[in-house]
Amino acid sequence: MRRITASFLPPIALDAASGVPMHRQLSEWFRRAIVDGRLRPGQRVPSSRSLASELKVSRIPVLSAYEQLYAEGYLETFVGAGTCIARSIPVERSAGTAPQSTPLRIAAHAAPRRISRRSASMREPAQTWLDSQGAFRIGLPAIDHFPLGVWSRLVNRHARKQATDMMVYGDPMGYLPLREAIAEYLNTVRAVRCDASQIVMTTGSQQGLQICAHVLLDPGAPVWVEEPGYPGARQALMMVGAKPVPVPVDHEGLNVMAGIRRSRGAHAAYVTPSHQFPLGTTMSATRRMQLLNWATRSGAWIIEDDYDSEYRFGGQPITSLQGLDTDGRVIYVGTFSKVVFPALRLGYVVVPRDLVPAFYDARNATDTFCATLYQVVMADFIREGHFARHIRRMRTLYMERRAALLEAIGKYLGDQLEVIGAEAGMQLVALLPPGIDDVAVSRKAADLGISVRPLSPCYANPPARGGLILGYGGAGVREIQDGVRKLRSCIRKDA
Ligand SMILES: Cc1ncc(COP(=O)(O)O)c(C=O)c1O
Repeated sequence: MRRITASFLPPIALDAASGVPMHRQLSEWFRRAIVDGRLRPGQRVPSSRSLASELKVSRIPVLSAYEQLYAEGYLETFVGAGTCIARSIPVERSAGTAPQSTPLRIAAHAAPRRISRRSASMREPAQTWLDSQGAFRIGLPAIDHFPLGVWSRLVNRHARKQATDMMVYGDPMGYLPLREAIAEYLNTVRAVRCDASQIVMTTGSQQGLQICAHVLLDPGAPVWVEEPGYPGARQALMMVGAKPVPVPVDHEGLNVMAGIRRSRGAHAAYVTPSHQFPLGTTMSATRRMQLLNWATRSGAWIIEDDYDSEYRFGGQPITSLQGLDTDGRVIYVGTFSKVVFPALRLGYVVVPRDLVPAFYDARNATDTFCATLYQVVMADFIREGHFARHIRRMRTLYMERRAALLEAIGKYLGDQLEVIGAEAGMQLVALLPPGIDDVAVSRKAADLGISVRPLSPCYANPPARGGLILGYGGAGVREIQDGVRKLRSCIRKDA
């Protein structure tokens, strides 16, 4: 690399070995120097001849770089006065922006950097427990047991073909054969009543929730949310300016009567009836009827988030709320994150027929459609039976992992933790003794490399007792046992 100081220019570094043509390196250097204020508007630049000689390069790349900079408006020429940095470039711009690799420097005279009140309200404190992917990261399936060979074969099958219909814009509702396969699966396994025309593919259920919020709610609309509940749902609602109304959850699920007392006229309710997040309870039949009746009478929508109900250890999965709905009040949100893998980013929303056009428009306006290749692969994965087989295997595996976790908790922390919600899913809740700060315990655990999510941030109002949400899907038996031993050292009165 040659480093040369031209007569009145800051040092110019050119790298003959970089493979980037000299003229491009030069024009890029000028652009950067102008944008970050090292070259000022009106400042003269050397003639092409003198710059070429100082840089010890031929004149051609210098001429070519200058030509490009003229064309882009960075340079201007005056007869008799030579070439200078265009005087029309605003001084603030040229002085205030740092090169990409340095930290942002904000000029003293810069106007305030306003962001919306909604995004400010979504700011979360540091969640160090999300740094680790091992025990007890919630929502993480057994990636090491995923049939990667089968999956790669399916990806190759379609990626190699380069079929043009997979490379163009797709249907905002999603790839039809996949939606047909999902409709069949939901009819059979989840008692959801729908056909493919009611299914909208999304990039996971988080996007499904956002689209529901966009379609169903105006700013200021009150919406029941479970207390405790899924923070992601609260965020999706707040993004459209809706007002979450916390409604307590007990052993029968959301307390509908308490919801009616708090906000009879709420526009919607967000619920996880099959497996309440995070407490793990199942909504009773009575509460389901009460909720549907309230929705019908008051004209409210019910957003049913059915995120992991495939994994139920005693008996069959609980049937959906959507299947009981005769009035088209329930919007059913599902995901492949827990049953396939989260980075796939594929989920779906089952929409009442009359809402299909509105959901189509919102889906189109969001990010147009989901990547076609993975939709096609997922359709084959389901149709060829791999999906059902994988779920069956994982159910057995998670039963073993759950048993290992319960055993280890009993052995090492039986006097400290009270376990609830272990009948289904891939996680359970362990309540801490009163007076112990669950966020502090989670931070300590993160320092030891384990991911334990605190329970209290799932509440809008601070709970009487903190707890830990422990995912066991993604951790092997040995890792679970080690994790619980480490956790013991984090749970002390002074944690
Ligand atoms: C209750 C609940 N809903 C939705 C999601 C989001 O899932 P997805 O990865 O499909 O966005 C999660 C993720 O953990 C969840 O726990």
